[in-house]
Amino acid sequence: MIKVLGIESSCDETSVAIVADNKNIIEHEIYSQIEAHQPFGGVVPEVAARSHMDYLGNMISRIMTQAKLTYNDLDAIAVTAGPGLIGGVIVGVMYAKAIAAASHKPIIAVNHLEGHALTVRLTNEVDFPFLLMLVSGGHCQLLIVYNVVQYMLLGSTMDDAAGECFDKVAKMLGLGYPGGQIVEQRAKNGKYNRFKFPRPLLGRSGCDFSFSGLKAAVKRQIDEIKELTEADVNDVCASLQHTISEILQSRMINAFKICAREAPKVNTIVLAGGVAANQHIREKLSLAASEYGFDFVAPPIKLCGDNAAMIAWAGIERYKLGLTDNINFIPRSRWSLDLL
Ligand code: KG4
Ligand code: ZN
Repeated sequence: MIKVLGIESSCDETSVAIVADNKNIIEHEIYSQIEAHQPFGGVVPEVAARSHMDYLGNMISRIMTQAKLTYNDLDAIAVTAGPGLIGGVIVGVMYAKAIAAASHKPIIAVNHLEGHALTVRLTNEVDFPFLLMLVSGGHCQLLIVYNVVQYMLLGSTMDDAAGECFDKVAKMLGLGYPGGQIVEQRAKNGKYNRFKFPRPLLGRSGCDFSFSGLKAAVKRQIDEIKELTEADVNDVCASLQHTISEILQSRMINAFKICAREAPKVNTIVLAGGVAANQHIREKLSLAASEYGFDFVAPPIKLCGDNAAMIAWAGIERYKLGLTDNINFIPRSRWSLDLL
């Protein structure tokens, strides 16, 4: 059995995992730094890097002990090598390199986006090729995933990512950070059709996204009301969540049409990234997918956000293909997927 240690430290989650190729997550810990960043209303890169330094070493030791494994029992070390906040990425990469060097094990430099993309192959039975909607705080893309290393970009955001839009509106409403989860909670008690927010690019062909006009419209609405009641806040949240889900749905349907024409083997849509945790969005996209004859798959909520199990799994997929890396690899703050 192949066993890989995974390390993730590209943003504000410090996470470590040991995953086996029989899809067993042997150990997994996610430490969220939310409290450290909350006073600043967003992630502060330097605070994040220092926090990864404070926690990562102990977390790795703890899961190795709990799993009753030594480094010698591992087949490889997989680590997020980018894209992300470079200070945090460097912390994870240095730990991974030190363990790999000391134990003479191969190291695998994983692209964080590839980790999100492949998570469903750990939690579900999903074969290549599949359509991927990757929606997180930093990314909003539609891609065809042909295999572990080959992706075709159908469209991406021209300005903000969907998660960023949730976060920025939450900040405007004084709801704190991170916004997506809080907006989802508040939306449960709100009226989704009270405010008619714009849905940029709706009705146009293609798979590009735009959220900055929506964000600006929500700001204008908030300024217009001036003194927001709790009910107003709930209604803004519900209307925003509904609008974002409609934007995502329209782009996804355009992607279905492209697949029908150009990639008829693609009949599964995977929703991944932090925003995939949103129940309303999952339900709306799942319904639309079934109308178009596509299977809809999203990882369990716990594995939608940043986590090391997805990095360990991507490491396993690469290891099986013989794709290990030279220990001299350089961490990267920017790194797009290998596009066809
Ligand atoms: O994938 P992720 O953990 O980190 C990045 O790689 O960006 O995604 C974080 C993003 C944040 O913008 C957060 O607000 C959003 O995912 N998010 C959600 C929900 N949970 C997290 N957005 C909407 N609804 C949620 N339940
Ligand atoms: Zn992520």
